[in-house]
Amino acid sequence: MDIEHITDDLDLEKTLFSEDEIRNRLGELAKRIESDYDGEDLLLVGVLKGAVMVMADLARTLDRHVEMDWMAISSYGSGTTSSGVVRILKDLDADITGRHVLVVEDIIDTGLTLSWLISNLRSRGPASVEICTLLRKPDAQKMSVDVRYVGFDIANEFVVGYGLDYAEKYRNLRSIGTLAPHVYS
Ligand code: XMP
Ligand code: MG
Repeated sequence: MDIEHITDDLDLEKTLFSEDEIRNRLGELAKRIESDYDGEDLLLVGVLKGAVMVMADLARTLDRHVEMDWMAISSYGSGTTSSGVVRILKDLDADITGRHVLVVEDIIDTGLTLSWLISNLRSRGPASVEICTLLRKPDAQKMSVDVRYVGFDIANEFVVGYGLDYAEKYRNLRSIGTLAPHVYS
């Protein structure tokens, strides 16, 4: 299902990244990841639910063995803004002590949720923790945590598709697009 094909959905405004563009960019990131972790064990940690598509496609693009694990976290906040106060809904199955961990994210906005997650993971004694995100919004530049792999930097607008939702909808779009402002304003 592609945004262009949902011509009757007035909630969607424009396509930002097509399926092909996403695939090509993930291919570039995968090459860097393969070379950076050459000879090392690698655990990909996906953050549910948004990162499901990125995780599935990135993991299959990587020409190497990886393990995959998942966390679900919820950020206490006033609806649209995250507070950085986080609760773990589902923890990792794996013990990450001494392991190389790559957190796979769909989007970083303020980075508050991710900052909390990274310090939580670092406290468990991994060999390393790095971040790979498909999308990054401008506010994320204020974040104290380095993001090693970024797919695309985007403007400060609400996007959906490819795992990203608005009220749990649009996650199954193959491309990424903007939501018409009338939907959320
Ligand atoms: P922070 O601000 O902590 O929050 O980096 C990141 C989380 O906020 C959600 N988010 C979005 N979700 N379209 C979405 O579907 C967007 O444009 C968007 N911006 C932020 C998302 O859950 C992300 O994990
Ligand atoms: Mg979300």
